[in-house]
Amino acid sequence: MTVPTLMNTYGQPAVSFTRGEGVYLYDKTGNRYLDALSGIAVNTLGHSHPAVTEAICQQAGALIHTSNLYGIERQQQLSASLCKVSGMDNVFFGNSGAEANEAAIKIARLYGHNKGITQPQIVVMENAFHGRTMATLTASGNRKIQAGFEPLLGGFVRAPYGDIAALESIAKNNANVVAVLLEPIQGEAGVNVLPEGFMTSLRQLCDQQHWLMMLDEVQTGNGRTGAYFSYLLEGIYPDVVTTAKGLGNGVPIGACLARAEAAAVFGPGNHGSTYGGNPLVCAAAQVVVDTIVEDKLCDNASTIGNFLLQGFKESLSGNNWVTDIRGKGLMIGIELGRPCTELVGLARDQGLLINVAAGNVVRLLPPLIIDQQQAQHLLTTLSEIINAFEPKD
Ligand SMILES: Cc1ncc(COP(=O)(O)O)c(C=O)c1O
Repeated sequence: MTVPTLMNTYGQPAVSFTRGEGVYLYDKTGNRYLDALSGIAVNTLGHSHPAVTEAICQQAGALIHTSNLYGIERQQQLSASLCKVSGMDNVFFGNSGAEANEAAIKIARLYGHNKGITQPQIVVMENAFHGRTMATLTASGNRKIQAGFEPLLGGFVRAPYGDIAALESIAKNNANVVAVLLEPIQGEAGVNVLPEGFMTSLRQLCDQQHWLMMLDEVQTGNGRTGAYFSYLLEGIYPDVVTTAKGLGNGVPIGACLARAEAAAVFGPGNHGSTYGGNPLVCAAAQVVVDTIVEDKLCDNASTIGNFLLQGFKESLSGNNWVTDIRGKGLMIGIELGRPCTELVGLARDQGLLINVAAGNVVRLLPPLIIDQQQAQHLLTTLSEIINAFEPKD
């Protein structure tokens, strides 16, 4: 028996994989699994995408890392591409989603201090998930991930998700608020979608109040919902947007993008990261951004996403356990009226990798390259599994 030398943070994994190709993963005995989770919204272009592999190999052969004490041409090229696809003005690169959100939180606080607000507050949402660092777990609205790590940070105000009246009330009563931070779709909380028109109303409120509108697109970004960033579907621009996950297709990269006044907040010395945006990760992410655009993967996410959403609505219509089916693009949640984590194992036995969020929502985040035939297989197999599911009491 091997002595465990890894910290006990992830539980006991039921399976591990030795290689991947496209939308498929393979275990060491050669069993094939359709990956409808993409490493939790990471493998946008699928596994072992040849252009990503080539870019990583070439860059590793030339230069992996120099630190941000020196100019990094690839970083400049990638920031220009990201600004083009997002409508934002500038970018800070870190290594993860949590770090991207840390940068956003620091921008909001410094923005407040620059306006003379010495105790700046950021409005965050119930059930939010923004990461596991101290600031981002404080910003998250989930007691389970906070418990035991008190004292939490100050400077956050909680509001119900998607409730513009609650934000208007905070605006009337709290002059220390400088920003609002939220996910356009709450992924970890169970694929919760904002009400129609909410983003536009929030944009107006932020303009009136001079609050920074900050969107956490760590999970929704990079084409997942059918546009490069999901706010583009609403025709508005936030002041700050954070992303990670799908940006690197598996290499660790996070980015905090800012626009207008927010883009001018940080100056030299205000923030930094040793690895952030090094040549290796930027080379990989450049291929990801270019491929999403050139291969029209946002359109594919939208087309296949609609096909799956409609398909599940039809195939699960007679299932009394299924209480809601929702999502945008290739971010889909199937909510059951009771806990259903056993579905993960049942699906895996059928060669399908899925996830259950919040205990009762099947969450699907397949690679954006998934084709119609693969989507049909996902739809048929998962519908059969859910329809045959007899929850244990
Ligand atoms: C919306 C959102 N924000 C932030 C994070 C944290 O990202 P990371 O795990 O890369 O720090 C996640 C991860 O699931 C996320 O879904």
